[in-house]
Amino acid sequence: MKKIDYYVYILCGVLLLLTAAQNAMADAAAGKAIYDEAACGSCHGPAGAGDGPAAMALDPKPRSFSEGTFKYDTDGDGKSGTDADLLNIIKNGSEKYGGAATMPGRTDIPDSEIQALIAYIRTLKN
Ligand code: HEC
Repeated sequence: MKKIDYYVYILCGVLLLLTAAQNAMADAAAGKAIYDEAACGSCHGPAGAGDGPAAMALDPKPRSFSEGTFKYDTDGDGKSGTDADLLNIIKNGSEKYGGAATMPGRTDIPDSEIQALIAYIRTLKN
């Protein structure tokens, strides 16, 4: 292989990584806008620390996204808090999976926007 080929491969690799990082960032930015619009922060807090104005009155408490740990394994794959689990919880609420009725399901939010919400929530881990 010629030396120039290596450079081309490396350049392509770097470009691919940059594009992937940029997509993730764009998703998270869109997710923040949806988070604010859907008022997730009223319970989960403006920055996701689980300290929204309604949180005081709730038991169990809304999840703090700063901790980055999740409870529900909605698809029974033995792992809680996968993207699929978070999608199910945000869409259907946690009562459906044996939890509190105070985590309301949002079937009105399209899956693509829920994916963006999840990308945003993942950035809130400390
Ligand atoms: C009325 C208050 C309230 C609102 C509004 C709310 N949540 Fe929650 N959320 C909760 C509570 C309470 C829990 C904990 C439920 C439990 O443990 O059973 C929770 C849990 C969660 C979890 C963690 C699930 C797990 O497996 O640990 C996620 C993710 C989540 N909410 C996302 C969202 C998103 C995104 C929104 C906005 C679209 C939202 N929530 C709006 C109260 C709320």
